[in-house]
Amino acid sequence: MVTERSAQVVVASNRGPVAHAFAEDGGLTARRGGGGLVSGLSAIGPDTDAVWVCAALGDADREAVRRAGRRLDADDTGGQSVRMLDIPPEIFGAAYNGVANSVLWFTHHLLYQTPLEPSFDAEAAGRWAAYEAYNTAFADALAEEAAEGAAVLVQDYHLALTSALLRERRPDLRVGHFSHTPWAPPDYFRLLPDATAAAVLRGVLGADRAAFLTRRWADAFTACCAEVLGAEVSYGTGDGDGGDTETRITYAGRTTRIGVHGLGADGRFLRERSRRPDVAERMAELRAEIGPDRRTIVRVDRTELSKNIVRGLHAYRELLTERPEWRERVVHVALAYPSRQDLAVYRDYTAEVGRVAEKINADFGTPGWTPVVLHVRDDFARSLAAYRLADVALVNPIRDGMNLVAKEVPVVSDAGCALVLSREAGAHEELGADALTVNPYDVTATAHALHDALTMEPEERTERNVRLAAAATALPPAKWFLRQLDALRED
Ligand code: G6P
Repeated sequence: MVTERSAQVVVASNRGPVAHAFAEDGGLTARRGGGGLVSGLSAIGPDTDAVWVCAALGDADREAVRRAGRRLDADDTGGQSVRMLDIPPEIFGAAYNGVANSVLWFTHHLLYQTPLEPSFDAEAAGRWAAYEAYNTAFADALAEEAAEGAAVLVQDYHLALTSALLRERRPDLRVGHFSHTPWAPPDYFRLLPDATAAAVLRGVLGADRAAFLTRRWADAFTACCAEVLGAEVSYGTGDGDGGDTETRITYAGRTTRIGVHGLGADGRFLRERSRRPDVAERMAELRAEIGPDRRTIVRVDRTELSKNIVRGLHAYRELLTERPEWRERVVHVALAYPSRQDLAVYRDYTAEVGRVAEKINADFGTPGWTPVVLHVRDDFARSLAAYRLADVALVNPIRDGMNLVAKEVPVVSDAGCALVLSREAGAHEELGADALTVNPYDVTATAHALHDALTMEPEERTERNVRLAAAATALPPAKWFLRQLDALRED
């Protein structure tokens, strides 16, 4: 039986491993949550003594919490022990939409620009108060769930204040914070009101160890702590992911270690999952939409501004304009799944993606050829089918913590796929040598890279793909998780 304070390992994230929906008969259905964070953490597996604390994200999740009590039924969560927090909707909405997915997401991804300039007024202060309350709710729940001396792994920008709040409640715990996003460089981070910027940094420094997906994001965080807080930094020789010494940040009498763990793709799972019949069915459907003897450029994203889908479509348009020999011979399969639709800026971007795709089809399409095949309904089997069919994968984010699509396509692709990859994706640190690198703002260079990718000799493409797949699976999720845990438990 589960008792209070029972867990030796506690994980905290906004989005948990399951999302509920109402069925027609009024019952509840549960399915796996989406996004890179959930993919990574799902490797925790049912056999570890871990509790996963997450937020109820809508009415169906709230209903599931009401029916289940403190922890959800393991049958519905893939065997994991999950505590979902029923945070009042107005607090949750202001924290998740009004702070995390607008202010903090836009800051770390360098997305603020006209007409999206930040402005911090009395209403913004109200949303910030909600963000504090939401982080406090997590800290309270974690303090309840963690056993004496347990390891607590706090995830991402939604919970930037939680580590410090938890330390106040439970100084006995080992607390780690992991950022799945980039971290803004100091000059950009200073767009935030001074008190907010300092609170975010102090919140993360409440952890014993703060870890990032790449060295670049870790260094940006370290620079922010030095410049904004005046913290003292002792630079290590490595990333703490293999015995090197770690960078240490000392502030207000405490020291926080800085680590880097580059989350990789789960090769075994992806290979097995992509061979199932539902994926074969989706492949047949996509093949029918693509048409015979055509090359395929694939992209798969949540639809939001950092993914740079619109510039990707403009680059494809430029390819068709400048290289008319590709007309009728190539199809761009764009799977662009709606994300965070409560916020107007995400909704507008989603609509723009649809408009730009339609315009390309109207301007270039012929009775037997649809240049852009756009799908917007989230469907994991279809994503895998597209990966298998891809000749070229386009991954061109403005900025991305890692980007797991760049790592998944080479693992799954049937014939070996050429990867056009933004130098601003975290994945570029590991995959850059065998990808075609692009500056995400440079539409013309992206169009050239698409052409180079389409004309790459099959032998070279296969060789590069083999190396890409090996690099992509170097640190699969289960190992990634255990490395963090081991590092956190070390002194
Ligand atoms: C990114 C974030 C995750 C988040 C995911 C999906 O990967 O780092 O924390 O879960 O996006 O976004 P959503 O808002 O749908 O949870």
